Amino acid sequence: LRPPDASGLKIAITAGPTLEPIDPVRYLSNHSSGKMGYALASAAAERGADVTLISGPVNLDTPPGVTRIDVNSALEMSEAANRLAEHIDVFIGCAAVADYRVAQAAEHKLKKTPGRDELTLTLVKNPDIIAEIAARPPASGRPYVVGFAAETRDLETYARDKLTRKKLDMIVANDVSQDGVGFGSDHNAALLLWRDADGSPSQRRELPTQTKPAMAAAILDIILGCLAKRHDT
Ligand code: C5P
Repeated sequence: LRPPDASGLKIAITAGPTLEPIDPVRYLSNHSSGKMGYALASAAAERGADVTLISGPVNLDTPPGVTRIDVNSALEMSEAANRLAEHIDVFIGCAAVADYRVAQAAEHKLKKTPGRDELTLTLVKNPDIIAEIAARPPASGRPYVVGFAAETRDLETYARDKLTRKKLDMIVANDVSQDGVGFGSDHNAALLLWRDADGSPSQRRELPTQTKPAMAAAILDIILGCLAKRHDT
């Protein structure tokens, strides 16, 4: 059986961590490897899609045929995503975007102050990139929006809340408390929740533990199936 074809589709995928500067030599970040986003980009390009990866700093090669935009901070990632939004059919938010950034990164390297044992950093909230894209009015070009949720408990409840609150079309939820899956691993297990053609978030599929490339192919099949249904209605 041939997998569904994605030729003619334009897809943007955010991947990896963001890096939030503290001063010119220090930053706040997280352990996202970028592997899941890169596997999705690779699978989509293999099926003929026109794929742009908006990538935080990761140690991965750009998959063949994929256009890559390198960014560091969440603000840079947001700008790149919003710039592309009206030109794409599908937006997949796979990046582990830092929820907060340092309010005012220092212009010069922070120095230790003799006699001061504490340093306070003030953080401010970053934009929720995927919610920004999902909030676009259809008339100004709103793509089909797929989010990810990494949870350590109450997977389905939190994922369902994110799907509805962020107005996503689909969410891929990972239980990162399980050994050997998720962050940094080559494997993943997921619960997919998505909306049916009338918009109600009633669809559900569990994807058992498998390699990230295999999971990327399975997720892509479901996305392409949804797009085909939307086209038919
Ligand atoms: O709320 P939470 O961070 O768990 O949501 C995860 C989903 O939201 C992922 O798809 C992630 O890429 C996206 N996200 C985002 N911008 C943020 C935070 C999360 O696009 N500032």
